[in-house]
Amino acid sequence: MSLLTPARRRFSPRRLAPLAMFEALATPHGVDRYLELVHPMLTVRELRAEVTEVRRNTADSVTLTLRPTRQWKGFEAGQFVQLTVEIDGVRRTRCYSPACSQYRADGRFELTVKAHPEGLVSQYLNAHAAPGLVVGLAQADGVFRLPTPRPDRIVLISGGSGITPVMSMLRTLCEEDYAGEVVFLHYAFTEKHVPYLDELRELDAARDNVRVVLAYTEQSTGGDLHGLFHQKHLTAAAPWHADAETFLCGPPGLMKAITSHYAAHGLAGHLHSEDFAPAPVVPADGDVTGAVTYLRSDVTATNAGETLLEQAEAAGLSPEHGCRMGICFSCTQIKTTGCTQNVRTGEVNSDPDVEIQLCINRAVGDVTLDL
Ligand SMILES: Cc1cc2nc3c(=O)[nH]c(=O)nc-3n(C[C@H](O)[C@H](O)[C@H](O)COP(=O)(O)OP(=O)(O)OC[C@H]3O[C@@H](n4cnc5c(N)ncnc54)[C@H](O)[C@@H]3O)c2cc1C
Ligand code: FES
Repeated sequence: MSLLTPARRRFSPRRLAPLAMFEALATPHGVDRYLELVHPMLTVRELRAEVTEVRRNTADSVTLTLRPTRQWKGFEAGQFVQLTVEIDGVRRTRCYSPACSQYRADGRFELTVKAHPEGLVSQYLNAHAAPGLVVGLAQADGVFRLPTPRPDRIVLISGGSGITPVMSMLRTLCEEDYAGEVVFLHYAFTEKHVPYLDELRELDAARDNVRVVLAYTEQSTGGDLHGLFHQKHLTAAAPWHADAETFLCGPPGLMKAITSHYAAHGLAGHLHSEDFAPAPVVPADGDVTGAVTYLRSDVTATNAGETLLEQAEAAGLSPEHGCRMGICFSCTQIKTTGCTQNVRTGEVNSDPDVEIQLCINRAVGDVTLDL
């Protein structure tokens, strides 16, 4: 597989039409498996994208511009895509939220990926992404979107890498010449950690209805606010936030503080949020019993009550995964026997030989996985 192969030549989509007739002949691999040998961006069915530009605006993030193949249907500000890269011969899929306006004229889109200290894909992209890199892509998805028609007042709150979907919303609103009031409140460790600092300052200066408020948690000078979220920050940034729709994306601590504030003030219905990381799993009721057996790996470990993905990793296995929160299905494996519980819905499944998502299921007693 050549997902990481630099693109060599451009191909016209018109040349693809006759290729469809070869699809049946190419079974079981599919014609795209053969076409990628010619050129990784030449596909009949698969959506891929070529990195065309790489910028490093902060020390711990990389901003990629991607040119998708003709199958791309675009996105709405706030949504995410699943991106697949091949690292050491294994395909790895992760979710990333486009940060550009949904109206970008050249059909390309932009991702900003923060390098997590132990993160596999984010470290890989930060270290190795270069123009010509071809990645796998899934169509944009997700319900974290601006409503239509647009509300009269909008608050966009982000922290760290959570800036991307709300940056896309801000850029989209500006391109629409949105006439309502927008406050963009962003939390970062220091000024150096704000990926779109210059553009944010320009938007704030150029538009009377846009106010950018920067809050630094580890810098006591510069910026507009300092320290971790406090409700006085919201009062200072957007005193009218009770009458607005608020869109929030950030690290778990910030998400929790703001969600609690909105709930305590009867404003939960006005808050829309996107999680980048899974919420901690609530411990199972009652005793945790049994063992999890990984058949193909010939490993059995005592059931610890965590998700099956966490337990498999703790047992020394490296199952494929992406979002770790039930979105991307890349962790799906066959449960051959035993009972599992979906940690999000509480639903219990005791059917044999069924597909389950490891990241959102835990074992209830003995479970055997074809892993
Ligand atoms: C809907 C959605 C949109 C996203 N959009 C973006 C985006 O625009 N920009 C961006 O940089 N990231 C985004 N993410 C996060 C991204 O998908 C990856 O989780 C992140 O890049 C880490 O992947 P990794 O392979 O480097 O880490 P992994 O190798 O998967 O994990 C390494 C360690 O880091 C922990 N970890 C994994 N993800 C996170 C996280 N998000 N926060 C804290 N710890 C984590 C894991 O538990 C593990 O211990 C988004 C996630 C979701 C679900
Ligand atoms: S890792 Fe994405 S659904 Fe499990």
